[in-house]
Amino acid sequence: MKLLRSYPIIGAIAAQIVAGALVFALVLGAADRFDARILFWSALLVQSVVAALVTKLLGLPVWWIWIGLCFPAAMALALYAGDLPAWPFGLGFVVLYLLFSNTARERVPLYLTNRATTEALASLMQQRNARRFIDLGSGFGGVVRALDGEGRQATGVETAPLVWLVSAILSKIQRRGRMLRQDIWTTDISDQDVVYVFLSPEPMPALYDKARREMKPGSLLVSNSFGVPGLKPSEIWELSDRRKTRLYLYEMSEPRAAEE
Ligand SMILES: C[S@@+](CC[C@H](N)C(=O)[O-])C[C@H]1O[C@@H](n2cnc3c(N)ncnc32)[C@H](O)[C@@H]1O
Repeated sequence: MKLLRSYPIIGAIAAQIVAGALVFALVLGAADRFDARILFWSALLVQSVVAALVTKLLGLPVWWIWIGLCFPAAMALALYAGDLPAWPFGLGFVVLYLLFSNTARERVPLYLTNRATTEALASLMQQRNARRFIDLGSGFGGVVRALDGEGRQATGVETAPLVWLVSAILSKIQRRGRMLRQDIWTTDISDQDVVYVFLSPEPMPALYDKARREMKPGSLLVSNSFGVPGLKPSEIWELSDRRKTRLYLYEMSEPRAAEE
């Protein structure tokens, strides 16, 4: 399954092929008994549901299940859209790219930290008397704006163009936080007290390596929902929000020189 983790698109295509084979068999068996329109809509439904189920069985991340579900309808729309103007599709594609470009490239989708988690992070900063906070992959920047101020300096870095633009405008208006259009991997985190991430399982090993190389002793890496595989966190905070958020805390306790 390592292949699927690296190339989930292979699983997504396999799911559509399996669903397509089933639909083909069903349509062959029922072609002379049902009206063509009923057959078409049933085939579309079966294709979508089976593809989503196979995607789930293959253990792909949840956004691939949604892609598996919606892809047949998108294809049908594209095939039957001859009379529709092309520009809404083009515009839709551009907006989706500007919002979700990191989902395909980094396998990190856009979902946001909730209020309970933001409050927990604020209390963590307070407990540790931490002053500098950075959110790597800051989305619309809600966490950064909430934690900035009262002696704290909060920064967000984000590369998805539209997402960053919205976060930068909101920060300017509210005069809270600093939003950089910058890649996580080229961001210097050596002077941060708390580094926060809410990404996906995929980048966690490389991210931890970066943290160990750059972060100062006593500083803290906090990951929402995704732990570093095979590594015991210094602490786990289990929140009592609806999604039972878990924050994995990794304290950078040893001098960085010892790691080199
Ligand atoms: C799950 S969202 C979390 C948003 C925000 N941290 C929050 O908790 O509300 C992850 C964000 O990371 C961004 N991202 C993914 N890879 C990135 C990279 N290499 N550099 C900068 N941002 C990245 C995505 O565009 C997305 O907005």
